[in-house]
Amino acid sequence: MEITSATYIISSPKVENCPKPDMPEYAFIGRSNVGKSSLINMLTGQNNLAKTSNTPGKTQLINHFLINKEFYIVDLPGYGFAKVSQNMRAQWEKMIADYLQQRTNLVTVFVLIDSRHEPQPIDLAFLRKLGEWNIPFNVVFTKADKSSQRDAAKNVRRFVDTMKQEWEFIPQTFLTSSEKRLGRKPMLQFIAEMNQSIKEAEKEEGMV
Ligand code: GTP
Ligand code: MG
Repeated sequence: MEITSATYIISSPKVENCPKPDMPEYAFIGRSNVGKSSLINMLTGQNNLAKTSNTPGKTQLINHFLINKEFYIVDLPGYGFAKVSQNMRAQWEKMIADYLQQRTNLVTVFVLIDSRHEPQPIDLAFLRKLGEWNIPFNVVFTKADKSSQRDAAKNVRRFVDTMKQEWEFIPQTFLTSSEKRLGRKPMLQFIAEMNQSIKEAEKEEGMV
């Protein structure tokens, strides 16, 4: 898939403020600073589309981007950011839970995992939540350029092995580096295939 257009649409404090759910939607979530916004920029080929920062906690709202006038990419605020008050954390949890549970056009959630680390309880707990809510997800390992290929592969394997202890089915995973533009093609290919199958399902429904 070629990205022919990528446009910022709106930043919403609540799911109610999001655009009409009339196109397939792909959300990006993961620990604060894991590289969500950078990955969105890498995938869309627009360096300043999503705001990135060295300081964790940069993204604080639900940010919608319209891609190829055909689907939405959503940049979500990260979890696990230590320097926030209880109150802000509760607000974040409600915003994310509402968004994930209520957004009817959500195709999958890309859960980003830093490929430099061993499996972290906070990430596994988040996947468990998605499981409870029956929300489809894919795991995306980030910052592959920051460690040797061998170490990144080892962490990916460990994470998948840990998941296998709890999950019967492991969805497709991706290894990425926004710095080196690694993983762009497979992720865009995956999104294109999902969009295509949604279109076909809609066509069939129309014929009934
Ligand atoms: P929050 O919005 O604060 O939750 O962070 P985020 O997950 O959106 O992370 P962001 O994309 O802002 O990136 C955080 C930092 O990691 C920035 O300094 C990025 O330049 C850096 N970074 C992100 N992806 C990569 C990558 O693939 N390789 C390297 N070397 N650095 C990266
Ligand atoms: Mg961000």
